[in-house]
Amino acid sequence: MDKLNIISGIQKYRSEVDTNFHMPGHKGKSGILEEIGNKLAYYDITETIGTDNLHYPTGFIKDAQRDISKVYGSKKSYMVVNGTSCGIISAITACTIPGDKILVQRDCHKSVYNACILGDLKLDYIYPEFNKKYGLNFSISLEKLEEKLIKAPEIKMVVLTYPTFYGICFDVKKAAEIVHKYDKILMIDEAHGSHLHFCQDLLPISAESSGADIVTQSTHKTLPCLTQGSLLHICSDRVDINNIETMLRMLQTTSPSYILMSSIENSVNWMDNNRNRLERNVEVFKRKTKELRDMGINVLEDDWLISQGCYDFDPTRAVVSMSELGITGTELQEILRFKYNIQMEMADLMYTVGYITATDEPEDIEKLFDAIKEIYFEEIKSKEKREIVQIEPLPNLEHAMKMRKAFYAKNVLIDMDESIGKTAAEFIIPYPPGIPLVCPGEIIIENTIEYIKTMLENGIAVNGIDKNNKLRVVDMI
Ligand SMILES: Cc1ncc(COP(=O)(O)O)c(C=O)c1O
Repeated sequence: MDKLNIISGIQKYRSEVDTNFHMPGHKGKSGILEEIGNKLAYYDITETIGTDNLHYPTGFIKDAQRDISKVYGSKKSYMVVNGTSCGIISAITACTIPGDKILVQRDCHKSVYNACILGDLKLDYIYPEFNKKYGLNFSISLEKLEEKLIKAPEIKMVVLTYPTFYGICFDVKKAAEIVHKYDKILMIDEAHGSHLHFCQDLLPISAESSGADIVTQSTHKTLPCLTQGSLLHICSDRVDINNIETMLRMLQTTSPSYILMSSIENSVNWMDNNRNRLERNVEVFKRKTKELRDMGINVLEDDWLISQGCYDFDPTRAVVSMSELGITGTELQEILRFKYNIQMEMADLMYTVGYITATDEPEDIEKLFDAIKEIYFEEIKSKEKREIVQIEPLPNLEHAMKMRKAFYAKNVLIDMDESIGKTAAEFIIPYPPGIPLVCPGEIIIENTIEYIKTMLENGIAVNGIDKNNKLRVVDMI
């Protein structure tokens, strides 16, 4: 080898980016991880005499999970070293048996769909309320949630995302009451909300304290934790803890990283002791978003979203659009990156999204919003009139067969244009945010193909479409 490719690639990236608003939540600030960061080999141990075992904890891992549970006020908490994706699959497969039906928010993460394939589950959807003007999935309707539970009493569990990637929140307390009224289990995918608990005066209520039965969190996204560090909280007696532990043992590596586990515990402890930093950053965020909104810039803000019919919003999520100036989210992300050395978390056709965490300094947040302001006023002066691209709601596609059957069926790779009317064999997922546009077993329609083309033309990666614009459909012959 001439060089270490990954190390040199990361070094190049770090030399180009001054400020980042992407995960992991520690933002590359080593101070927070100093004890672990400077002694990686020292802390990288294994299950042996005097250490513990994540799969059957009896010693210091048990103590760490007990302390984390105390902080979050859960009945029991588990460290998950394979990310929230693994927590979600473990929880869903633990609460169901093959053939069961679960109700999921249609804009849920792909791991929820993966759980359905692995667990051979039937899916029913609740679609979020889509706001066409702003191209955003708003909160789910609780009336529709209740209607679904009345219409399909066989539903075993309900899986909802709170907050979404865009910071949108529904009334989780009320949702829990409704789900429990019909005697179902409520699991909340709080991948984007492990910080909420630490700033309850200024942030939306945390799912752990709202009556949800199971809550999964990506500690690595919004707390200063190493990538893949996650938590699974059990918050009620409706859940069979033995089933959860069995699935976690089945799905996680048998060599869980002690560095990751140390980092999960460290991040929860750090956050618990640095709540004031989060409060301070939320206040800076609120002040700056108000300033920009007063200038006419479309930055999502809680008061405005609530006035538009949204239940709540997490004011640590910087969600900005200049689509009215004909600038796509991906273009805005590139301007921030190449002109200002600021890297955001993700972009779609309309929005650029960034994470603000307790590790950011107020100057970082000010720098981001000042750059957005500058870009806006420069672009407004620009003579070039560009076409505005609109985000489409998630399609409601017909099912030709069960997701699992389509996934395991013989398939063929065909051109996108030839796939209309055929049954998808694979997920088609714009990434990020990782929400499937098409699922295996669904019949592909022309509108969806046109929309995929628009995304590809605008630099959005679409998983499930190969570099020759081909996709996999079920081979019906
Ligand atoms: C809503 C949501 N749930 C779950 C996940 C999966 O989390 P992880 O990356 O920790 O596996 C993601 C990842 O982006 C997500 O956005």
